[in-house]
Amino acid sequence: MSDNNRAARGEPRVALITCADLPELDPDDRLVLEPLAERGIRVEAAVWDDPDVDWAGYALAVLRSAWDYPSRRAEFVAWADTVPRLANAADLVRWNTDKRYLRELAEAGLPTVPTSWLGPDADWTLPAEPGEYVVKPVVGAGSVDTGRYDLADEENRELAAGHVKRLHAAGRWVMVQPYLTAVDTAGETSLLFVAGPDGLRFSHAVRKGPMLVGPDYGVDGLFRPERITPRTPAEPELAVAERVLAALPGGPGRPLYARVDLIPGPDGAPMLVELELTEPSLFLAHEPGAADRLADAIAARLG
Ligand SMILES: Nc1ncnc2c1ncn2[C@@H]1O[C@H](COP(=O)(O)OP(=O)(O)O)[C@@H](O)[C@H]1O
Ligand SMILES: [Mg+2]
Repeated sequence: MSDNNRAARGEPRVALITCADLPELDPDDRLVLEPLAERGIRVEAAVWDDPDVDWAGYALAVLRSAWDYPSRRAEFVAWADTVPRLANAADLVRWNTDKRYLRELAEAGLPTVPTSWLGPDADWTLPAEPGEYVVKPVVGAGSVDTGRYDLADEENRELAAGHVKRLHAAGRWVMVQPYLTAVDTAGETSLLFVAGPDGLRFSHAVRKGPMLVGPDYGVDGLFRPERITPRTPAEPELAVAERVLAALPGGPGRPLYARVDLIPGPDGAPMLVELELTEPSLFLAHEPGAADRLADAIAARLG
């Protein structure tokens, strides 16, 4: 059926939101196109900062690969406020695009990676404990601007200080964390949740290989390449993920999707590295049925 015919039949239009560098979407997200079409939904890719898009014309606009927002977060969250039917909702996007939400989750008792938060005017001082540390921006995605430093090594100390300085010079908040060495062997577990009739439901999980080999010298591009394989999460990982989702502002009933990223801490228990409500790759290719589950969740939101 042609698009005109679909429009004439009043089929709902859904936007999958991407960025100008990926106008045809990330290949993984394209896997949901056919399942949506099978459900009678007209779906289009739309670039978030394209001034010609009429967001009010969509029954739902789903954030997928707006991966260029970290250098323009204020503009991005202001734009999110203008989209009438956005998933995930604009207030969740505002909350989730600044990793200081991890501080709130830690205060709520969730196991998060211990973090020093350095505002643009704060001085960088060496952590008291020796070892390897991660320096990353509080607003960031795709492992960009993220580096790993062995602070026992003088050159690494200088590189870490330079990294902090670079981010601060751009007016950015910085976070410093101990490097969780278990990621080198166990990897990171990403647990994917998709909305069902009574809130988010576990869909599938993947293992992501370690991303950080050393200092950050600045990389071009939207993301660093990832090594992804399917994984069955352990019970304690599922349990932490469920607790994280229960602590969401407004509860776990609101998001269309969520991804919880965990790495084992020093005692082996899972620690929250990141909760993704804005730009997660959903790794649909790694689980048969995942694209259909997402299409069902989108269809259910169309009323
Ligand atoms: N404290 C840490 N210990 C070990 N690896 C880390 C740590 N923080 C980040 N990483 C690595 O860097 C990657 C990117 O960091 P993350 O906090 O997930 O930010 P984002 O994915 O938003 O860029 C992670 O997937 C992980 O491989
Ligand atoms: Mg991440």
